[in-house]
Amino acid sequence: MAANALEARRQAALAREKIRRYDIVSIVLHWLTVLLVLVQIVAGLVMTDLERGTTQDVLYYTHKSVGIAVLLVVLLRLLWRIGHPWPPLPPDTPSAQAGLARLNHLLLYVMLLVMPISGFVFTAAGGYPVPFFGLVDLTGVIAKNPDLAKTAQWVHLSAQWVVYALVALHVLGALYHLVVRKDGVFQRMWP
Ligand code: HEM
Ligand code: HEM
Repeated sequence: MAANALEARRQAALAREKIRRYDIVSIVLHWLTVLLVLVQIVAGLVMTDLERGTTQDVLYYTHKSVGIAVLLVVLLRLLWRIGHPWPPLPPDTPSAQAGLARLNHLLLYVMLLVMPISGFVFTAAGGYPVPFFGLVDLTGVIAKNPDLAKTAQWVHLSAQWVVYALVALHVLGALYHLVVRKDGVFQRMWP
């Protein structure tokens, strides 16, 4: 019995050593997305709390431009993912946990599309400028439409709470792998 348990642990350790890392492009795109989303959340919350003025203008400009950049980075990530799928989790991962992780990642991708698209529609349909770092002005892409702008604003402001919840679960999951399971899953996304 003891020999069996020892053998099972040896097999699990071997499987962990063999766990595949994400490729470098996926890792770079993941951490770039994290950085840009953090900028978005901080800029978004601060700019809506400020008095009118230059600081607020700069933050709005940054928030809108970086938000479009998030959309581009996520589209790139999704395209890249087609040819470079999720490396399999360690074989001893409970299937419910693997399912939850997949669902969490899927919903994160959905929200990474919903946030920039709703922000863009809300701004452009409201008739406000949509700069992209001074390279192009996307304002005219959508005709002015106050009703559409209002709906998109509601989506944008509400969806942020879904993002917070998903990111909190995601980070807790990552830390659970790092501290409790110690199965190399955290390290495979670490730069
Ligand atoms: C991943 C991308 C994005 C995230 C995570 C994000 C997040 C946020 C957050 C947290 C707020 C503050 C909400 C509040 O005060 O309760 C906000 C507000 C805002 N966002 Fe975004 N945003 C993103 C993309 C965009 C884009 C692409 C645009 C426009 C092109 C945009 C336009 C705005 C505007 C205009 C506001 C002010 C809302 C208001 O005054 O009611 N956002 N965003
Ligand atoms: C804005 C914050 C974040 C977002 C939007 C995000 C998004 C994602 C997405 C979509 C995936 C799935 C990658 C794929 O297979 O295509 C992923 C994987 C991963 N993320 Fe994040 N992430 C964020 C923050 C973090 C943080 C702060 C950590 C570490 C503490 C982290 C650790 C990981 C790990 C370890 C994986 C790989 C999980 C696995 O192999 O099953 N993430 N992330």
